[in-house]
Amino acid sequence: MKYQRVLTGITPSGTPHLGNYVGMFRPAIEASRREDVQSFFFLADFHALIKCQDPDLVHRATREIAATWLACGLDPDRVVFYRQSDIPEIPELTWILTCNTAKGLMNRAHAYKAAVQSNQEAGEDPDFAVTMGLYSYPVLMAADILLFGTDLVPVGRDQVQHVEMARDIAQRFNHHYGEHFVLPSAAVDDNSAVLTGLDGRKMSKSYGNTIPLFLPEKQLQKHINRIKTNLQEPGEPKDPDTSSVFQIWQAFATPEQTAAMRQAFADGIGWGEAKKQLFELLNDHLRGPRERYEALLADPGRIEQLLREGAVRARHFSVPLMKSVRAAVGLRPLDP
Ligand code: TRP
Repeated sequence: MKYQRVLTGITPSGTPHLGNYVGMFRPAIEASRREDVQSFFFLADFHALIKCQDPDLVHRATREIAATWLACGLDPDRVVFYRQSDIPEIPELTWILTCNTAKGLMNRAHAYKAAVQSNQEAGEDPDFAVTMGLYSYPVLMAADILLFGTDLVPVGRDQVQHVEMARDIAQRFNHHYGEHFVLPSAAVDDNSAVLTGLDGRKMSKSYGNTIPLFLPEKQLQKHINRIKTNLQEPGEPKDPDTSSVFQIWQAFATPEQTAAMRQAFADGIGWGEAKKQLFELLNDHLRGPRERYEALLADPGRIEQLLREGAVRARHFSVPLMKSVRAAVGLRPLDP
């Protein structure tokens, strides 16, 4: 059987929240259980350095994200699960691709353009605080993708451009040096839920409106109580479709539970009661993963060992490909 290779990287910066779980960890892990898929999940710690120069934070976030993947059910026997910085072929390929990537292509990258634009609006030099890391970020990401013969890259809308750039870079390389790279496609899952946050906007670290995924029970309850609601009293019918409480409910509930909650809104359930039920639903759902998460964090040696084993497996793919790429560009032994 021909496996689809599916590759997902997550940048360890900050603590994972419910929105990451619903939009990313949960669907990725479900997809990894399919028989016709070979999944590669990795911690993009080289990417983390672009935005974060605090070593303790990078280190802690890497441990937390690794523990999150495992606690949420990633099976390291099935999935090739590794840390980007354990794969020396990634920076090596990055350089070779950098030498074959037009600067003009990078000028068009959204993340770079957004940085320049906000500098201009602030009356700063356009390149203020723009590192070469930020500028060449899409080349590093292309190396991540191309090194493993990736067919599909599940991403959010904001990352589609990067996958398209990886494809452009691969095409250009193949054209010049022969067919070395599979051309990857982005897979945007419009069905995967986008969660609303405490304030009703999309749950996102940059809005400061998140509910961290593995809060202790009491803290989880406190966060849920902080979800913004209107001033309607118990007994007044409420609109589920404009309510964060309902949106979050829906992301975790069965269809029957969702229908029941919709009815309860129509019947005028009080906000306090709706939040109490939401807490119970989330807490039941997250109890098992939270216990596994805490056990893993208490045993970082176990995480380290799994990542190292994953790197060995990943390098079964990256070492041979890199060897052929080196030879193709003329980096090969001098004796014939
Ligand atoms: N840039 C991605 C993000 O910030 C993370 C990432 C790095 C990635 N390399 C990747 C995602 C390769 C998919 C494939 O979300």
